[in-house]
Amino acid sequence: MTALFVAFEGGEGVGKSTQIERAAAWLRTRGRDVLETREPGGTPLGRELRRLVLDPDSHHVTPRAEALLYAADRAHHVDTVIRPALAAGRDVLTDRYVDSTLAYQGAGRGLPDARVVTTWATGGLLPDLTVLLDLDPRVGLARAGARSSFDRLEAAALDFHEEVRAAFLALAAEAPERYVVLDAHRSSDAIAAEVAEAIGTRLFDVER
Ligand code: TYD
Repeated sequence: MTALFVAFEGGEGVGKSTQIERAAAWLRTRGRDVLETREPGGTPLGRELRRLVLDPDSHHVTPRAEALLYAADRAHHVDTVIRPALAAGRDVLTDRYVDSTLAYQGAGRGLPDARVVTTWATGGLLPDLTVLLDLDPRVGLARAGARSSFDRLEAAALDFHEEVRAAFLALAAEAPERYVVLDAHRSSDAIAAEVAEAIGTRLFDVER
C-alpha cells in the first residue's frame, strides 16, 4: 500500500482546517494511518518561523525575506515530517504547501520566481492531490475576522486576496489531474463529501 500526500489550499477563512479534520476522520474509518500537519508551523522550528512571519507586531518582513521564511519552514517540514511519514506508509494531509507560496508570494507579492525557491525547498516533492477550496475573499476574510484578530497577511488589502484567489485557480487549471477545485461557499457537509470522493478515487488507485 502506498501513502497518499494531500495538500489543502485556499485563501483566508475557506474552511481548510475543518475539511482536513473531516478528511482525516474519513480516511481513518477506511483503516488508513493519517498524519495531519500544517504550514507554516508543522515543526518546532516552523512554529518559531510562523511567529516571525505572521505576528503583526514583528519587524517589517520584505517580500523576498517572507518567501524565504516560508521556504525554510517548508524545507524543514518536508525533511523531518512529511517524507518520513510517507516513507512509513502514513497518509499526509497538510494545511497549505507549495501553492500557498506561489499564490501569496508569487502572485500576491509579485515574485514569480518564488517557484524556484519552493522547488528547491521541497526537493521537488509534490502532493498526489491538492484540494483547492475556492471562496470569495470578502466572505473568507469576514469569517476569518469573526474568528480572531487579523494576522499580518489577513490584514492585506482586498485586491491582494483577489490576486491570491486567481493564482490558486490558475495553478489548478495548469495541472487539473492533480487538483480538485471545490466551491467553498457551500455547506461543510457538501464539501466534505466531495473531498472524500476525490481522495477515495486516489485511494482506489494506491490500494489496487
Ligand atoms: P494559515 O495557517 O492557513 O492561517 P490561519 O491559521 O490564520 O488560518 O496560514 C497562515 C498565513 O500564511 C496565511 O495568510 C497564508 C500565509 N502563507 C503564505 O503567504 N505563504 C506560504 O507559503 C504559506 C504556507 C502561508
